[in-house]
Amino acid sequence: MCGIVGYVGMRDAAPVIIEGLKKLEYRGYDSFGVATLGSGIELVKHQGRISGYAGSANQLHGKIGIGHTRWATHGVPSDANAHPHLDCARRIAVVHNGIIENFSSLKRDLIARGHRFCSDTDTEVVVHLIEEAYARDHDILVAVQQTVPLLKGSFALLVITADDPRLIAARNQSPLVIGIGDGEHFAASDMTPVLEYTERAIFLEDGDIASLLPEKIEIFHAGTLVSREIQLINWSPEQAKKGGFPHFMVKEIYEQPLAFFNTVCATDTTTLPAFAAEKPSAVTIVACGSSYHAGLIFRYLVEEICGIPARLEFASEFRYFPPPVEGLVIGITQSGETADTLTALRKARAQHCKTLAITNVVGSSVSRVADETLFMCAGPEISVAATKSFVAQLAVLMQITNCWTGGKCDEILQHAHEVIDDTLLIDLSNAVSLCVGAASIFYVGRGPFYAVSLEGALKMKEISYIHAEGYAAGELKHGPFALLSPETPAIAICMPGETYDVMCSNIKEMKARGAPVIALGCVGDSELVDIADIFIPLPGTHLFAQILSSLVVLQIIAYKTAVALGRDVDKPRNLAKSVTVE
Ligand code: F6R
Repeated sequence: MCGIVGYVGMRDAAPVIIEGLKKLEYRGYDSFGVATLGSGIELVKHQGRISGYAGSANQLHGKIGIGHTRWATHGVPSDANAHPHLDCARRIAVVHNGIIENFSSLKRDLIARGHRFCSDTDTEVVVHLIEEAYARDHDILVAVQQTVPLLKGSFALLVITADDPRLIAARNQSPLVIGIGDGEHFAASDMTPVLEYTERAIFLEDGDIASLLPEKIEIFHAGTLVSREIQLINWSPEQAKKGGFPHFMVKEIYEQPLAFFNTVCATDTTTLPAFAAEKPSAVTIVACGSSYHAGLIFRYLVEEICGIPARLEFASEFRYFPPPVEGLVIGITQSGETADTLTALRKARAQHCKTLAITNVVGSSVSRVADETLFMCAGPEISVAATKSFVAQLAVLMQITNCWTGGKCDEILQHAHEVIDDTLLIDLSNAVSLCVGAASIFYVGRGPFYAVSLEGALKMKEISYIHAEGYAAGELKHGPFALLSPETPAIAICMPGETYDVMCSNIKEMKARGAPVIALGCVGDSELVDIADIFIPLPGTHLFAQILSSLVVLQIIAYKTAVALGRDVDKPRNLAKSVTVE
């Protein structure tokens, strides 16, 4: 939700910031803006995307600056609502990621005191409040320190002024990382804009305010100078580039065998915290979106394979309606910044549960909220749609399941990445042709494959904009059957086992209502060849392998359908990768 970048050093700030913002566009791209300290504050801001922008922002002068790429919350996407925002005298510039919840009352008071507003954003109150504090003390750090306590909500702020060479950064519940270079400092919503220049990073804590000069960094917390650990981030800049692929999403799909394998290796029983290595009496999982679907797969595995009662909650519901929970609570969030998941984990801790976070991002907020954190090894995921981070979540969750079974799944976990490799070779062109012309697509499965269906449908709708729904196969005839027609293909995941026969019946029932059916099943399944319109044979016989291969097939069908429809695959409309607001 919005990306921010700041720079102070010996380079021209504008090109550094512009390139950085391009890497953060997955966080929002409704508008962008850059302000530098040249002859006074120099500013360029526009509605629309910075990628492909060929205007004059690169020519802004100065070795210090801030920039922003926006995911609109308060105020429509427009030039006026684009950040940075300036004070009345145009001598202070601010960019902001987050939401200032009390902005209405602050704005009313500021207007009454004579401030002129140029936008409908919540952010603009911040720069006018800083303006007032700055007028009192003429110290930009002090002005930010005096302003922050007046703000309610979440924010990562970057501030510059025409009168001072410092870049000020403040954080509360929105991510902010400081990149430590040689004679230069960076500030950004995440590490991707910084990787080009340094691997050394400080992740600010909530309440921290940092003052950055080229050679010096000072971090204050509640007015006191504090020291924060410098962490080494081993993501390479190449990992955050497309590397010859047309989209990040397909590159990331192809990286899944490695993401899975690396994560399995990094999450053996020795890396599990003691309270999670022991088989718990009960498990609760909190998550959102795709991570929720990973949680649903896990719930089936934990209950069926380990015999542990498990419940799964949308983090956004759990935070307001927390049920009584006991045992272990697991929060799954690839970004580590999803506001609802962070709050849900805090609520679980308040019930004295042990909390374990699973995330892909070292230094992300969730690691400060949960008792312990397990990191996946997916590398940076740039495309908005989660793919390799989802598979890496499954790697961690399957390893935990394995641990609770005393290592019974060791063998499959060592080889599951090979199944993903084989799945990437499957020809899906017929299925894609059918989906491209669809008005709506139904995905059905049972047990863990119901969860895979939900994830397949989510991938399809978010990047192709075709309406798609995942259903537990038995539920379709309780209402959704009314929608079936030749324009509504169904994708059914039908694996050998207890539910095989009933799934075959479900396929026949859907076909009888005119819906063409794409069936995903075990390689060599002649019955599915007969009853389905299109049969997709999947490699792998173990449940884990079947989950992974069916998932990867659905990701690729969604990707290829979206490409065929000319969609902006990596940056689907209205979406942002990291959802740091409720
Ligand atoms: C879909 C997708 C989202 C995220 C959701 C939670 O492709 O990526 O549904 O899964 O926003 O995000 P995290 O995992 O960062 O908490």
